[in-house]
Amino acid sequence: VAACGNSDTGDAGNDGKIVLGFSQVGAESGWRTANTTSIKESAAAAGIELKFDDAQQKQENQIKAIRNFIQQKVDVIAFSPVVESGWDTVLKEAKDADIPVILTDRSVDSADKSLYKTFIGSDFVKEGRLAGEWLVEQKKGASGPVNIVELQGTTGSAPANDRKKGFAEATAANPNLKIIASQSGDFTRAGGKQVMEQFLKANPKIDVLFAHNDDMGLGALEAITAAGKVPGKDITIITIDAVKDGMQALADGKFNFIAECSPLLGPQLMDLAKKAHDGEQVAPRIETEETTFTQDQAKAALPNRKY
Ligand code: AHR
Repeated sequence: VAACGNSDTGDAGNDGKIVLGFSQVGAESGWRTANTTSIKESAAAAGIELKFDDAQQKQENQIKAIRNFIQQKVDVIAFSPVVESGWDTVLKEAKDADIPVILTDRSVDSADKSLYKTFIGSDFVKEGRLAGEWLVEQKKGASGPVNIVELQGTTGSAPANDRKKGFAEATAANPNLKIIASQSGDFTRAGGKQVMEQFLKANPKIDVLFAHNDDMGLGALEAITAAGKVPGKDITIITIDAVKDGMQALADGKFNFIAECSPLLGPQLMDLAKKAHDGEQVAPRIETEETTFTQDQAKAALPNRKY
């Protein structure tokens, strides 16, 4: 795996290998670490030279990395946009340089779809909806208000926007379900812990936590336990991702439900990079297949969970 910043140019100067510039969001979660591993391993297996850049959750770093890739004349650019908006200018620069762009994991809100070849990743609205539908079913007999707090992902990111939307739409089916507080924990354990502490201080009755990823849910567990409450019992906890630590918490009865988001996008990305490089047609949207887990399902799946 080559580091971003070396001066190799495209396949002409590189033993015929396709050169893929990839700008990653950061290393904010277990999901992200598994996604980075999948991309690096798949590039090596596919014989693709990978120039990997970690943007540390900052859009300006991603824009800088993409401009570097353009300057280095890589064959294909892929990136997982930290936020949805503000990409048109740099995407236009890549298009003008004739470098195909593949969106991975997260999408952008650009109206001009010709700025990128394809988007491979999850349906985040669906994940939020599945989480909400499970809760509606669990609480269908509730006679009074069910107070929900929500830990949102990174502000302005597609998964935070879409999971919030899907969950709100699904839980609207039961007027007893009320989202009493909703704030960003930036997809990190530290953020989840800190915001959950504030939620617990401000709200004497919290029945449900919906965390937009496992890591924030895991951070929140510490705050809940420190407040003298039993996670999974006093507070029902729903998260998204299903990474190993999250699945362990679910199997242990600390979480109650997880909607899966798969980070294993590497093999499909390499396939798409080859096709885009060869000028082949690719589908404009490739959706990742995913499932959901209850506590019993997590117990059964854990021994074979790879990440
Ligand atoms: O974009 C996918 C999300 O980003 C994952 O759900 C979260 O864990 C990660 O940080």
